[in-house]
Amino acid sequence: MEKDMDRKTFKAMVVQATADGKYSRQITDKSLEELPEGEVLIKVLYSSLNYKDGLSATGHKGVTKNYPHTPGIDAAGVVEQSLSDAFQPGDEVIVTSYDLGMNTSGGFGQYISVPVAWVVPLPGNLSLKESMAYGSAGLSAGFCILKLQAQGITSGQGDILVTGATGGVGSFAVAMLAKIGYHVCAVTGKMKERQFLMDLGAKAVISRDDATDTTGKPLLKGRWAGVVDTVGGDILATAIRSTKQHGAVASCGNVASPDLHINVYPFILRGITLIGIDSQRTPMDFRRRTWEKIADEWKLTDLDRQISVCSLEALDVEIDRILAGKQKGRVVVDLTG
Ligand SMILES: NC(=O)c1ccc[n+]([C@@H]2O[C@H](COP(=O)([O-])OP(=O)(O)OC[C@H]3O[C@@H](n4cnc5c(N)ncnc54)[C@H](OP(=O)(O)O)[C@@H]3O)[C@@H](O)[C@H]2O)c1
Repeated sequence: MEKDMDRKTFKAMVVQATADGKYSRQITDKSLEELPEGEVLIKVLYSSLNYKDGLSATGHKGVTKNYPHTPGIDAAGVVEQSLSDAFQPGDEVIVTSYDLGMNTSGGFGQYISVPVAWVVPLPGNLSLKESMAYGSAGLSAGFCILKLQAQGITSGQGDILVTGATGGVGSFAVAMLAKIGYHVCAVTGKMKERQFLMDLGAKAVISRDDATDTTGKPLLKGRWAGVVDTVGGDILATAIRSTKQHGAVASCGNVASPDLHINVYPFILRGITLIGIDSQRTPMDFRRRTWEKIADEWKLTDLDRQISVCSLEALDVEIDRILAGKQKGRVVVDLTG
């Protein structure tokens, strides 16, 4: 970073440990010299809120080890300085996951400084704000879809179950699968949001209770050609046992539970594939390929119904909401002010 830039300040959320063992969040001024040494300095214009940010903002040591810290695993903005020929000042770029917002100062600040290997050029046909409507959640939904397709799950093979459907990953999985012709059954704990899910393209909506089997049977009636699961626990166990012959299940999240109580019968009697999603370390070529799909073939035309936009100052309440499982769709953070 050029020396005369070092003292420049910018606005950021800073989470710090308090004397009573809790964590507080404030919007304060940081200076560029507080950022890590990085190859690309990016002026962040938009970020977005993910479940992991909620964990980082509340002292979850599995996500962030050291505080004070600025969360935000997603950022979209404009390159201000670059030590790499791959990017020039003025380029519009996206950074999602890797270590951003975990132990590297993240997108809830107006500047980030990151390795060049984390930076994705903004795909044509997508604005910076739109890219953050998707963010890590939409990208992860995209990874699930591409991986189900790689297992040969086509729209003609039957219904796709999406769990945690009103959440960030779930809502984008519902909308993008529906856009490309899949018949989606959405699972939600918020049955009052049934119409929201139908408007996204779900053909059926069921409650969490209806998606949870408690009989303990090793196999249930085969209903799903594929599954995008964002919640884990009993709902994932039920989904695997309800997947049809040679179907596939993408396991992406654990908001309900990290546990999975099943036996091997779905795998050895039905040939079901369990696909793991690790968006944090997904290789760059797969990442770029997924962004291209998102910006093109899967592009959603009415993103506004899936997002709300808030300022850095208004983010506090949204963090509490996502941790309580009450978020609907995605929150885009506007850092242009
Ligand atoms: N593996 C990866 O690379 C990757 C990438 C992105 C996210 N994730 C993970 O995916 C999960 C979802 O992330 P997100 O950003 O979509 O979070 P989110 O916006 O908070 O959505 C989660 C949704 O899950 C449902 N839910 C909440 N509590 C639940 C419970 N106790 N039992 C069952 N369902 C519950 C709710 O939807 P309904 O009310 O509609 O049921 C909620 O809206 C998180 O665990 C996140 O860490 C993983």
